[in-house]
Parts: sequence; structure tokens; C-alpha cells
Amino acid sequence: MTEKNLIVDKDKCVSCGLCVKDCIAYALELDENKKPRFSNGGENRCIQCQHCLAVCPVGAISILNKKPQDSDPVWEQNPNAIFNLIKSRRSIRHYKPENLDEQTMQKLKDMLNWTPTGCNFHKLHFAFVEDKEVMDKIRTHVNTKLIKILTEGLVSKIKTKFSHYKNALLKGEDVIFRGAPHMVVVSAPINAPCVNIDPVIALSYFELYAHSLGVGTCWCGFAHICMQFFPELARQMKVPEGYKIVYVMLFGKPDVKYSRTTQPEPFESVTIDSFNPQKISLTEKIKHFFVNTIR
Ligand SMILES: Cc1cc2nc3c(=O)[nH]c(=O)nc-3n(C[C@H](O)[C@H](O)[C@H](O)COP(=O)(O)O)c2cc1C
Repeated sequence: MTEKNLIVDKDKCVSCGLCVKDCIAYALELDENKKPRFSNGGENRCIQCQHCLAVCPVGAISILNKKPQDSDPVWEQNPNAIFNLIKSRRSIRHYKPENLDEQTMQKLKDMLNWTPTGCNFHKLHFAFVEDKEVMDKIRTHVNTKLIKILTEGLVSKIKTKFSHYKNALLKGEDVIFRGAPHMVVVSAPINAPCVNIDPVIALSYFELYAHSLGVGTCWCGFAHICMQFFPELARQMKVPEGYKIVYVMLFGKPDVKYSRTTQPEPFESVTIDSFNPQKISLTEKIKHFFVNTIR
């Protein structure tokens, strides 16, 4: 793709070369007057990350029709506030039975544009259920279908997965969607370099930003399973051709308040303090391949 439209304000440019240094694609070089320009083939290599626009200390670079004056300044962050945000986020399974206001919904949607994707492959697809009434229809459809499978269906993967929840479902509990008024379903092109990772990053950003706005979220593996097994449900998410649904998150105004953070058990963490590569046996090589690439 060409026409990346690199425009350098040569009066402002101080020839520091930071744009060239920070370009992952080696797409830029300094010309004979020490001003940035596309290197040979650079325009095609450019991954549209806009680092050149962002790093320029004097705002001399516009690219992709984006001008530096339209970017936000970068603030100093408060690490304690951010750590508290992370620690105090909870999976919310009790929601007020009402829609979020439009501005909050819009803020959540807008934020998603800033989540990173592998190779800056900026083609995620987000399907938002913004109206609780639509969510109620989805809930009824899925719960009715699951009850039928659990009570009448033959042995199947989905029957096994949800067998623990048969009684709760029969009692009318919304085991899958937890009464959430909203849901976002994220899909990515099957040929995206990081098809299974990008949507998860987007939802991780989403849940933290939502929490900062007083909006509760819950990762929903159960809803994802339903998307996988019930094509008529997935079809309603308007997923483009060639995309796969990667994950689902419930959200809405929480109807539960947590007074303190939890105290999780630490994960295993090691320090690598030396490097002595050793010969690897063929068996180990095969095992390594299967564990790290196939699964
Ligand atoms: C990938 C993933 C899938 C999850 N799926 C569900 C789910 O289907 N239903 C649910 O109620 N919670 C689900 N959870 C929430 C976890 O149970 C929850 O994160 C965990 O119990 C820790 O609680 P906390 O998130 O409040 O710290 C999921 C969490 C993750 C990360």
C-alpha cells in the first residue's frame, strides 16, 4: 500500500533523527539536508504505527493525513492509581438491569482504537450489544437451547461442558450471561499475525478502562463456547467473512460493590541470570515443537 502521505514541516524539524531511529519498518531515512523522508521502498514497508508522528519532539511530522496537533499530549501517570485500578478490578456477575448511558458506551468504544495489535494489523471487529432488550433475547435463546441439550440431547461436548450448571439453568439462573445488559464480541481476521492474541489484549484494556468509568465487566468463556457451538448466535454478531470470534466480554453497571482488593496467590516467576545453551536431544526438540507451536 502506498500514499502514506508523509509530510515534514521542514522549518520545525530539528534533524534529530528520532523518527528514523524509532521506525520499526526501516521506512524512513534522513535526506541530504537531514530531514526525514521515506527510504527506498519505505512507503510500502510502513506499518502505519505513527511512531514518527508521536516521537517527534517538535511536532514536525504528519503522516496518513494525521497532524501532530490533533494528538493528545502525554501525561505523567500515577503508578499507585494504576496499580489500584488493576487490583480492584473484579469479575462482575451482578448487574443493574439498565443500559449504560450513551456517552459512557461511546467512550468505551473509542478507547478500543488504541489497543495494540501484532504488526499493527489494525483490523479487529467488535460487535456490541448495546440494548438490554436484545441481550435478553440472546439470554432466552441460549438458556432455552442449553436446557434442551442438557435434558434431551445426546452426549456432546457442550453437554459435558455445562452439565454442572443443569440445575441452575433449570431454576432460570442466567449462568452464561450473568444478567449483564451488554456484551462485546471480538473477532479477528483468521490470517491476522496474532489472531488469538489481539482480541484478548483489546478486552484487557477494555475491562480496565471500563472499571475506571465505574462499569463492571466479566470475561465470558461460557458465551464464547456458545458462540462456537451455536452458529445462529454467532451469525447475529455480524462477523465479517474470513474472521473468527475470539472472545466475549459482558459489561454493564455493577450491582455489587467490593470494599477491598483480593490477595491472590503469586504466580510462579523466575529470574534468568545466566545463559549457557546446551545440546538438545531429538526427543526434546520434538516435544518442544509440539508444546510451543502446535497447542
Ligand atoms: C479467559 C477468562 C474466561 C472467563 N470466563 C468466565 C465465565 O464464562 N463466566 C464467569 O462467570 N467468569 C468467567 N471468568 C472470570 C474468572 O472466573 C475470574 O477472573 C476469576 O475467578 C478471578 O476473579 P476476579 O476476576 O474477580 O479477580 C473468566 C475469566 C477469564 C480470564
